[in-house]
Amino acid sequence: MSEETAKAAEKSFDYDRVETLLQEFLHKKGVMVPILQKIQAEFGYLPRPAMEYVAKRLRIPVSKVFGVATFYAQFHLHPRGKNIVRVCRGTACHVRGVSKVAEKMQEILGVGVGQTTEDMNFTYEEVACIGACGLAPVMMINDQTYGKLTPEKLKGILKNY
Ligand code: FES
Repeated sequence: MSEETAKAAEKSFDYDRVETLLQEFLHKKGVMVPILQKIQAEFGYLPRPAMEYVAKRLRIPVSKVFGVATFYAQFHLHPRGKNIVRVCRGTACHVRGVSKVAEKMQEILGVGVGQTTEDMNFTYEEVACIGACGLAPVMMINDQTYGKLTPEKLKGILKNY
């Protein structure tokens, strides 16, 4: 994001939504994680202006808020797609050729690991074993597991989303 775009986003940001979420936490201690969880539930990710606003309201450095946000894997600093594709990169899946599946998936979606398609329909992620090794190679789309994958099967599966 260019500096200009970032400034425009900051200007148009709905700070009232964050203020409302903050109300129940003001004057309490150890509330950074629940605050960020609420913001993420509201916006789908942690917008930068929201984190800056939290820092201001709690009178703490912005770096502290960012520190917590980047420490926990549950938090996302960028908007995510409507559907989350998670390809397993665990050992069993690796042995059964998940690399080709992962490559093909990235090619179809046109994004790399951790990125979201332009239409915001898919975010592509890679994860360690998801506990379905018997079905390797495996991926999940949202809560649905797909096993015994081949690169050829991917387009057909994605059509459902
Ligand atoms: S290694 Fe992929 S599901 Fe276990």
